[in-house]
Amino acid sequence: MPIKNVSTENFIDFIFELFAQRGTEEYMGESVTMSQHMEQTAACAVADGACDSLVISALLHDIGHFVGDHPIDALENGNDNYHDEIGARFLEPYFPSSVTEPIRLHVAAKRYLCATHSDYLGHLSAASVNSLNVQGGPMNAEEVEQFENKALNQDALRLRLYDDDGKVAGLTIKPVTDYRPMLESLLLH
Ligand SMILES: [Fe+2]
Repeated sequence: MPIKNVSTENFIDFIFELFAQRGTEEYMGESVTMSQHMEQTAACAVADGACDSLVISALLHDIGHFVGDHPIDALENGNDNYHDEIGARFLEPYFPSSVTEPIRLHVAAKRYLCATHSDYLGHLSAASVNSLNVQGGPMNAEEVEQFENKALNQDALRLRLYDDDGKVAGLTIKPVTDYRPMLESLLLH
């Protein structure tokens, strides 16, 4: 359902406002802010040659932290905030599934990679390992099979790796506002 008083025309400004108001908060105990983390994740997608929808998916993947009812430090404190599902639902009236579905699956992708790639866990930051346990831990065999049958799961796995790399302190990176043309080109009308 679209947000009250936020039309398609002003949704991008609404996103920029969210980044401005909430983006300076610390990202789950990492050494970057929330907005720096999402901008770095998008930059990783660009550097990897990802298509525009996956770049925007990366840019907005943690927006559920901004719009959910849970406190920003919920995950750190052992409570799942379901920011994956909340973020996807928030964006769905405005962007196609190629943007929203990798966001919906980006936590599942972490749980999948932990179950299927023995070296992946060592690649995660301490904060990510901590939240993994809150989010259900590595997938079991049934969950792995279900994940492998989901549409856009490969994009979710790529997003997950960008997410893991987007935590570098002190990196100067393109701000969210530079992505306006790409955001506009993907908006549903
Ligand atoms: Fe993230």
